[in-house]
Amino acid sequence: MNSPVEQIKERLSIEEIVSSYIKLEKAGANFKAKCPFHNEKTPSFFVSPDRGSYYCFGCGAKGDIFTFIEEFEGLDFKGALKILAERAGVSLAQYSREKEGEKEKLYRAMEESTKFFEKNLEENKKALEYLKARGLEDKTIKDFRIGFVKNDWRLLYTYLRDKNFTDIEIEKAGLIKYPHPASPEGGGGELPSPLGRVGRGYDRFRGRIMFPISDSSGRIIAFSGRIFEDDPSTSSGQAVNQAKYLNSPDTPIFSKSAVLYGLDKAKESIRKNNFSILVEGQMDLVLSHQAGFRNTVATSGTALSDSTVSKENVVSNLGLLRRLSGNIVLAFDADRAGFNASSRAGKIALSFGMDVKVVSMPEGIDPADLISKSGTDAWRTAIRNSKHIIEFLLDKVLASHKDDMRKAGREIREKVLPYVDAVESSIEKSHFIKLISNKSGIAENALLEDLKKVQSELKSETEETKIATENVEKRMRKDPIERRLLGIAFWQESIQKKTIDPELIFQKLDKVKEIYKNIKEDLIYEAEEFYLDNENLQKDVKEMLLNIEEEYLNEDLNEKMVELKDFKDRKEEVEILKKIDEIHKRKEKIKNRSGR
Ligand code: CTP
Ligand code: MN
Repeated sequence: MNSPVEQIKERLSIEEIVSSYIKLEKAGANFKAKCPFHNEKTPSFFVSPDRGSYYCFGCGAKGDIFTFIEEFEGLDFKGALKILAERAGVSLAQYSREKEGEKEKLYRAMEESTKFFEKNLEENKKALEYLKARGLEDKTIKDFRIGFVKNDWRLLYTYLRDKNFTDIEIEKAGLIKYPHPASPEGGGGELPSPLGRVGRGYDRFRGRIMFPISDSSGRIIAFSGRIFEDDPSTSSGQAVNQAKYLNSPDTPIFSKSAVLYGLDKAKESIRKNNFSILVEGQMDLVLSHQAGFRNTVATSGTALSDSTVSKENVVSNLGLLRRLSGNIVLAFDADRAGFNASSRAGKIALSFGMDVKVVSMPEGIDPADLISKSGTDAWRTAIRNSKHIIEFLLDKVLASHKDDMRKAGREIREKVLPYVDAVESSIEKSHFIKLISNKSGIAENALLEDLKKVQSELKSETEETKIATENVEKRMRKDPIERRLLGIAFWQESIQKKTIDPELIFQKLDKVKEIYKNIKEDLIYEAEEFYLDNENLQKDVKEMLLNIEEEYLNEDLNEKMVELKDFKDRKEEVEILKKIDEIHKRKEKIKNRSGR
């Protein structure tokens, strides 16, 4: 029987997959589009149905249906496989427990925990009543798999131990903690050895309403727990004054800042409605979805607002949203933190060429409050009345300095012009200068002059964003052949009965091996999925090695061509030409060997 990967490849074409995300135009035998992986105005992204692959001449992104989904949705191979298998109607075999890798175990632990929390919510009337009082319907609670855990030390731990998870796995999933050595429960003194810790772990989440956080393929990767003490008399001695929300720590399957809550449920709707709504909190998100705005995603509190979150993560979150739609509406609290968060995200989104609007929220009210107190219509109206971020900021400044135009002018320079500077298109820039001039009465010339100054002041910030963007894009440009070959090599290295000598591959790919080491487990899994019981393995490896050799030669060739443009003397020119000739000869040889 064909492997799931082969079945998927037979059933789903590259053009079908890509065109379900972006608009493709016919271009001869191929299709073209504006590249979703970098910002461009004219299409340089090509899809080849014959070869089942895509390639971008602008940024070098390339691959097949699997890499496309991975990169577009920010998933690993397994996540992409899950999405494609569902689309193709191919069922993925359950792995035997022995074969289950570390990450699968963690996913399973998260799934089991979710079930546990869901069951506990059903049995806890008070918590359920609380959620209802906040306006949540039964169906919403079910859809979002919201749960509950009582305030006790080891409820989840015991449950997971009964399901045969080990202490180490439960800890790795971020579900238990160990007493701090210096605390009374820790006994003080030395950090306990791993063995000494057995049985001393306790639940990280206690007395909380539990929101599972999924990746874009729907796998649960983390939790966010909102404080809720069902019965304070059973209190397990927690400090009264603790964080309202507690999130999972970073784990092998979860990187806090790189995730948008609700994305798995929102992505279809974002594409369909051609805009996304970005809110801050779990409750905001869940209620907005319930109100019919399924194109809402949440930063989950920390992701965009926290200044310790790297710009790269903000960029990658916004990049993902931009791939789904160029239009975004920010709906954050009207408080300072909320404002700062939306400004930071808004500025970066503008620099991506996105259209950024802001919902004006009443003082002290967040979207959840608005929806539960004033109803769905109030929320719809608020979104409909959202203003472009520049106009929003401008109006705010003008309203607070009605009688002091000099002050207003200064504030416009400080608080509004940086956003005009961030706008990507110059046509739009001049549109906003006109708008500001009209509304404030400041002459366009004066504004333009100030804009220039702002530009040079913000140079380093702009540069920072550019570098972060380039880094994120670079990560997407992993060469699919390199990656597949190294996967095969790592896989063959890890098994007894080898079909291929891994060294054969490692030798050729020596210089890039390191880059891929941190996703070794993923790559092995991927290679196994593609090539277990596949009699083409040897043939394919041979072909791929030739391909990669050719690719490297082409890179060398490009380098030499550049050198040829400014050689020092005649002797050097001859040298370069000789090298180029050699490269051409080697390329010729490869062509003959591969019978093309
Ligand atoms: N948050 C967080 N960690 C905290 C506080 C907040 O991650 N210590 C995040 C959560 O995602 C939360 C969001 O920030 O949903 C908004 O926080 P906050 O404004 O404090 O929450 P409220 O709106 O007051 O919370 P709720 O609506 O649940 O009562
Ligand atoms: Mn709230």
